[in-house]
Amino acid sequence: MSHVRIEGLTKRFAGKPPAVAVDDLSLEIEPGEFIVLLGPSGCGKTTTLRCLAGLETPDEGAISLGDQTVLDVRGKVNLPPNKRRIGMVFQSYALWPHMTVRRNIGYPLRTRRVPREQARTRIEEAAELVDCAALLDRYPAQLSGGQQQRVALARGLAAQPDLVLFDEPLSNLDARLRDQVRAQLHELHARLGFTAVFVTHDQSEALALGDRLAIMKAGRIEQLDTPERVFEEPATEYVAGFIGMSNRLPLRRQGEGWALAGQPGADGSAGQAVAGELPVPRSHSEVAARLRPEDLQLCPAEEKPPAHGLALPAEIVDAQFGGRHMDVVVTIAGSRLHARAPLTGKPWARSLSRGQQVTAWFARDAAIYYDADGVRTAGHAPAAAVGA
Ligand SMILES: Nc1ncnc2c1ncn2[C@@H]1O[C@H](COP(=O)(O)OP(=O)(O)O)[C@@H](O)[C@H]1O
Ligand SMILES: [Mg+2]
Repeated sequence: MSHVRIEGLTKRFAGKPPAVAVDDLSLEIEPGEFIVLLGPSGCGKTTTLRCLAGLETPDEGAISLGDQTVLDVRGKVNLPPNKRRIGMVFQSYALWPHMTVRRNIGYPLRTRRVPREQARTRIEEAAELVDCAALLDRYPAQLSGGQQQRVALARGLAAQPDLVLFDEPLSNLDARLRDQVRAQLHELHARLGFTAVFVTHDQSEALALGDRLAIMKAGRIEQLDTPERVFEEPATEYVAGFIGMSNRLPLRRQGEGWALAGQPGADGSAGQAVAGELPVPRSHSEVAARLRPEDLQLCPAEEKPPAHGLALPAEIVDAQFGGRHMDVVVTIAGSRLHARAPLTGKPWARSLSRGQQVTAWFARDAAIYYDADGVRTAGHAPAAAVGA
């Protein structure tokens, strides 16, 4: 039994050309589960939430909450927002300016006619949960952005709804507050166990909060998986790029080995040769290796990287101090890549400067390899066809 069931949800907006904001999207959410919709701006996250809330009229599909059908386009069912037991927390805090914090948090309780005494307790509990108990008699204009957002969070939870929808609620906060409110939200969910759909374009937020992540692309779900699997085994290059594997190296088979594709050698020959074999099926002659900055290692040009590593000559473009590491930009055969070079025990990286020639290398199994269609062929998992 799933708590929230979305089937074939489609929402189009008129225009030239018409936009398909949500495209035949289906998703089942378990009771108490925290689902994160992750994707770039314009991929349909907000529209999906608004359809769940009853704020949009979808073109196709059905949605049920528990045993309640709240949307069924064919059956002409579309319950209004106040008939759905849903709480909402949006990016713009949208607090009522003329109401105190207490009245703002209590608003959804009043619309649900919760008795006064019980409402009072719930308001105080909700305010306590987000550290706003001391602010109950203030007006929104007397609060900082972070405080306003925490009040909005308390308001979304106060009525103890069946489902709470979050639309990028942390993205207007400064970095420190964002981490703090994120941690509070995570703790709250563990304590209260509400079902949540949380929208963000921030991968670290998604990884931290989600029981499962739905990576969205153009109104569809590209991958639906646990944070671990999305992180370790992004199914497509699109997902890999979105989940921090920002480095991309196009590679082509050359003789018994591989060459960096796209960049012909000085003598007009194929690209820079790369020593040895990669864990890629024989059937593939071109792949793109995707790699996280922390998996791209740097060493002095005259030093030899370990045998399991794939070494590439690189030139330093920029190196920024990051405390225990350096954030380094290098070019490798014309591609710009990022390396996160640890400083602990390796102070060498502190002296990197623009124009310097170094060796970049990565362990062959630290990369994930994608075929010409952007589908994962090998890497990070006992992928079926490796070596076949
Ligand atoms: N009210 C609207 N009218 C026309 N197009 C819209 C409207 N709302 C959203 N869209 C379009 O639908 C697509 C998805 O938008 P949205 O759901 O807001 O994406 P996200 O929240 O992921 O940034 C975009 O192409 C956007 O321009
Ligand atoms: Mg949005």
